[in-house]
Amino acid sequence: NIKACIFDLDGVIVDTAVYHYKAWKRLANSLGFDFTEHQNEQLKGVSRVRSLQLILGWGGVTKTEAEQEALATQKNTWYMEMVNQMQPDEILPGAKEFVEVCRKAGIKIALGSASKNSMTILNKIGITNLFDAVIDGNKVSKAKPDPEVFLEGAKALSVEPEECVVFEDAIAGVEAAKAGNMKVVGIGQPGVLDADLVISGLDKMTLDKLFKL
Ligand code: BG6
Ligand code: MG
Repeated sequence: NIKACIFDLDGVIVDTAVYHYKAWKRLANSLGFDFTEHQNEQLKGVSRVRSLQLILGWGGVTKTEAEQEALATQKNTWYMEMVNQMQPDEILPGAKEFVEVCRKAGIKIALGSASKNSMTILNKIGITNLFDAVIDGNKVSKAKPDPEVFLEGAKALSVEPEECVVFEDAIAGVEAAKAGNMKVVGIGQPGVLDADLVISGLDKMTLDKLFKL
């Protein structure tokens, strides 16, 4: 009995996953190395600090904590430069429509994102009012694949985890949803995501598919 949908933000509602990748790539390049798109899959859904640590590890680079903080800030500055250029039409195809269909069906809606920039992005594309609850990187202490962000979402909506469906583009996010005892729809490629259902985007999602999970 599904009562709520919890959406990841980056790569599910908006195409910011590309901007995260570009900003991290620029940072790695400035340190004299590069990483692949395959490696980038491991960064999806992962917090800013943890992403930096993974990247530095790939480059075999050691930095002090103060240097790491400066590097994370630099990345965020480059990332936000791209975000600030975003237009409302950069919402991914079908995302707004599917959320609206759910709302009309009486299904509660939450955001469950690791990003500390979530509110800025939701406001920028003008869809903040579609969410009954927003749980973001400022509200959780344990990063995906820990289920905290989704469990907090369920709590905020006053529903049980078993009554929630999570939409995720990240390996870590799919794991988090499963660890939280929730159904999960992967947004991406079936070979990458081990979800209950995998679709290429929310434009492929329907209420019928939701209730069959
Ligand atoms: C996740 C992204 O949604 O948020 C990650 O998939 C990102 O790539 C993480 O690192 C944290 O985002 P931010 O905006 O707080 O740096
Ligand atoms: Mg994501």
